[in-house]
Amino acid sequence: MEIKGRAFRSIWMDPANLSEVKIIDERHLPHELVIERLLTVKDAATAIRDMHIRGAPLIGITAAFGMYLAGLELGDDPDYDRKLMAAADVLRETRPTAVNLSWAIEQQLLCLGRKTIGTKNTRAKRTGPEKTEALRTNALKLAEEDVEICRMIGVHGVPLIREIYEKKEDTVNILTHCNAGWLATVDYGTATSPIYQAHNAGIPIHVWVDETRPRNQGARLTAWELGQHGVPHTIVPDNTGGHLMQHGLVDLCIVGSDRTTVTGDVANKIGTYLKALAARDNGIPFYVALPGTSIDWTLKDGLKQIPIETRDPDEVRYIKGWDGEKYQRVLLTPEDSPAINYGFDITPARLVSGLITERGICEAAEHSILTLYPEFAPIA
Ligand code: MRU
Repeated sequence: MEIKGRAFRSIWMDPANLSEVKIIDERHLPHELVIERLLTVKDAATAIRDMHIRGAPLIGITAAFGMYLAGLELGDDPDYDRKLMAAADVLRETRPTAVNLSWAIEQQLLCLGRKTIGTKNTRAKRTGPEKTEALRTNALKLAEEDVEICRMIGVHGVPLIREIYEKKEDTVNILTHCNAGWLATVDYGTATSPIYQAHNAGIPIHVWVDETRPRNQGARLTAWELGQHGVPHTIVPDNTGGHLMQHGLVDLCIVGSDRTTVTGDVANKIGTYLKALAARDNGIPFYVALPGTSIDWTLKDGLKQIPIETRDPDEVRYIKGWDGEKYQRVLLTPEDSPAINYGFDITPARLVSGLITERGICEAAEHSILTLYPEFAPIA
């Protein structure tokens, strides 16, 4: 997508400098555009843990590049394999909810292992630098695939928006929560991909952007993205969605997902569940846009099985804002009041109208998900 007319991705490598990976440090948006250089696996882990980057698909791709950076640091270390596994563990620990993280690390380990299949002792013969080069090539491949996956989510999502427009013959009002935009993926976004593509196709759209306390990903990031692309939008406090829905001001909800069980339960940013409840009460379609890489094929019960990240309570107690020259962080609550900061909640499959994936739209139900992804069906 574009920033002030210049094409950007959320993560990239300069082919002339293979010793670093670049990201947009999202903590500074929307008021400053800061590009950060990741040079080590520690840099990558910090960027994920401290949310310089965030959003399930981007967390995964950053971890994939983190594995490459770990390889670079190891060089031709005789203990390369063991140390790389340790680096994978460090990355895996950074944020627990988004399944894309462990998926991407697995893909990197697999790309090293796979090369050995059917070939004798290839693994033993490969040098550290050769393995590192394989990790770089694979990270770039995963990033490209993520772009195409998100583009296809948009292709499949646009007809939903078009159908509402054709019936209504007026602007389609879409509510979204958190940031499931291009800043949460490599490009296009998940929930925003149908929005951008519908907007590009000339369908009049207006987006209600939930502010998404406490880190305000909606107010800071989604609003900024949509503004850069010229999509009409309005930021609303998190507790406004139900009111908007009761007054016929929302036609469709589209949110993202950090992890979706094979049965269709969705973990997404805290507060998503409440929007799904309000949508159900008001008969408004509630869709989740997600790549197949956000589906956890091993889980059947989101409430019981998806780990929910708990973050620093100070993210609730303090608020950060721009004073016209620089960011300031101020205390919002009584000094001694405790706070708790759950990062995500679970929206049960029964509240989800459908899943918009890169392979098409399906019901939030095991049989329907497996129709799109038959390779994950249990062998009978
Ligand atoms: O804590 P965050 O900002 O990483 O949470 C992000 C979300 O919950 C997104 O909605 C989700 O990752 C989908 S991103 C395409």
